[in-house]
Amino acid sequence: MGNKIYYFTGTGNSMRAARIIADKLGDAEIISMRTDPKEESARDCDVVGFVFPVYHWTMPAYAAAYVESLEINPKAYVFAIAMPSFVCGIACETLANILKKKRIRLSYGNLVYSVANYAIVYPPFPPAKLRVPATEKKLKAIAEDINARKLRAYPRASSFIRRRREKVMVPYLKLQQYADNPFTISDACVSCGLCSRVCPCSNIELVEGKPTFRHHCTNCMACVVSCPKRAIGYEIKGEDRALLDSSSSKTPIVKIMGLPKNRKLYRNPYITAADLTKDREFYKAKIENSYDRTN
Ligand SMILES: Cc1cc2nc3c(=O)[nH]c(=O)nc-3n(C[C@H](O)[C@H](O)[C@H](O)COP(=O)(O)O)c2cc1C
Ligand code: SF4
Ligand code: SF4
Repeated sequence: MGNKIYYFTGTGNSMRAARIIADKLGDAEIISMRTDPKEESARDCDVVGFVFPVYHWTMPAYAAAYVESLEINPKAYVFAIAMPSFVCGIACETLANILKKKRIRLSYGNLVYSVANYAIVYPPFPPAKLRVPATEKKLKAIAEDINARKLRAYPRASSFIRRRREKVMVPYLKLQQYADNPFTISDACVSCGLCSRVCPCSNIELVEGKPTFRHHCTNCMACVVSCPKRAIGYEIKGEDRALLDSSSSKTPIVKIMGLPKNRKLYRNPYITAADLTKDREFYKAKIENSYDRTN
């Protein structure tokens, strides 16, 4: 038996959250959802956690598909932490519904407001120096809750958000298949391959030294914020502009997409680009914990 926390991340907020909770639990493993869920069973786990960003007012489709394919102990204490910047929408209930189909109950659900990272749409906000300390504080409190196996009803969307989502976000999600068309690679690229190694969706392949995008991108921003030469741009032009505009009448977000060269980029300050390439980490019980147990 053991504890496993699965995370999906682009810019490290969710990985940081998984680390903080794992650190508190001790004897926990954190596993990236970039792994193969068939090889990462949680069948024998006491505690199973899921940590993920919020995309378009729901759980990232890639993370949802991962949980669908994962085997989970039906008796486990299962928790979910969503990491939105402002609107969590139906993220937690989407996960709860996937679990329900597996006859698994979500014991604890919570959300932690984090720095907004969608670099091809806006600069990071609120400023990291203001939001990160608040995020850290809340995560530590959540880690205490989970360590004590507290029960908590997961956050749900209001009926207003639900209606707006159907109108604004659902049509936008239909454009996801074109999400990586506008990526550009400048001459500054040194073919180091880091963008490919950080991508949680195996969406980047180096062809003759040049990153090429394989059209199953979630726009997670990992490649953009990790490139040491800032060689990755985003520019909607020509046919893509016509395609995206025509299918996006209710999704004005497309109209402001782009990546100015001087835009500030964000990655969680506790997470490095090398961390984003990892598939797993182990957290052993702390020495003071074992001391407590023997006294
Ligand atoms: C493609 C995309 C869509 C996003 N949509 C939302 C959203 O609907 N609501 C929200 O609050 N934040 C949204 N965000 C912000 C992220 O959820 C937030 O910054 C998150 O903490 C990033 O987590 P990560 O660092 O683990 O990738 C979006 C970010 C991206 C990249
Ligand atoms: S990380 Fe940047 S420099 Fe390295 S291969 Fe990718 S685009 Fe090129
Ligand atoms: S290609 Fe870049 S933005 Fe798209 S999923 Fe991979 S790392 Fe994220």
